[in-house]
Amino acid sequence: MRIVLLGAPGSGKGTQSQLLVRSYGVPQISTGDLLREAVSKATALGLEAKAAMDAGKLVDDATVLSMIRERLAKPDAVKGFILDGFPRNIAQAQALERLLLELGTPLDAVILLSLDLGVLFKRLTGRRICEGCGRVYNIYTTTPPGAPLHCDGCGETARFIQRPDDREDVIAKRLEVFEAQTKPLVQYYQDAGLLRVVDADADVDTVFRAIQRAVET
Ligand code: AP5
Repeated sequence: MRIVLLGAPGSGKGTQSQLLVRSYGVPQISTGDLLREAVSKATALGLEAKAAMDAGKLVDDATVLSMIRERLAKPDAVKGFILDGFPRNIAQAQALERLLLELGTPLDAVILLSLDLGVLFKRLTGRRICEGCGRVYNIYTTTPPGAPLHCDGCGETARFIQRPDDREDVIAKRLEVFEAQTKPLVQYYQDAGLLRVVDADADVDTVFRAIQRAVET
């Protein structure tokens, strides 16, 4: 399975990627996660990317493409991959196409997680993350981590944090960037015959089953 999960911030790409990893045994390749890791380790790349991420803007294409090139070269990506949050604009999509052509591993499908703006906003402001294991929660839809703070994922007493870019002003910017730069990919992949649209305004399991149908047909 070689797929792209396309969707606005908060549409559920990360949540669904985790389920796909478990069911299909292929790695999730999330440019957001790779960038956050670089930021937390304060690498040169991370320090450079941080300002753009904190402002809700895209990190420059060259940085992201070199990260993707390196990640796709790892042995676990030979059996397939789920690209989460990449590509993000037409230039990245064209670069991905060239890279996959070189590797002889074309995409099977691009799944668009479709969701209204109002729902996206609520999902992002409600997102909380276990600082210990990274498990993602939502104060509106999943068990709110109450006192004593306990994570179902790592079983530890943990601190639940908010991503710095889940502040309301930054969310607004991220959604604006999605509309302007990422949305044109819908037509791009439609024209390539790869696009499958999934209604993401349903519970996690329902959305997952819809994705399964989309990738298996
Ligand atoms: P990135 O980490 O990719 O963030 P994003 O695309 O903005 O997406 P999110 O991670 O916010 O949301 P998601 O769709 O994964 O939703 P989730 O499953 O968590 O990028 C961050 C930044 O890095 C960018 O702004 C940019 O600066 C940079 N970057 C990354 N990639 C780049 C690239 N290719 N080029 C340039 N820059 C790049 O769900 C959200 C919440 O909703 C959670 O609380 C979850 O529990 C809940 N939820 C999920 N599904 C459901 C459901 N079905 N029902 C109810 N609640 C649900």
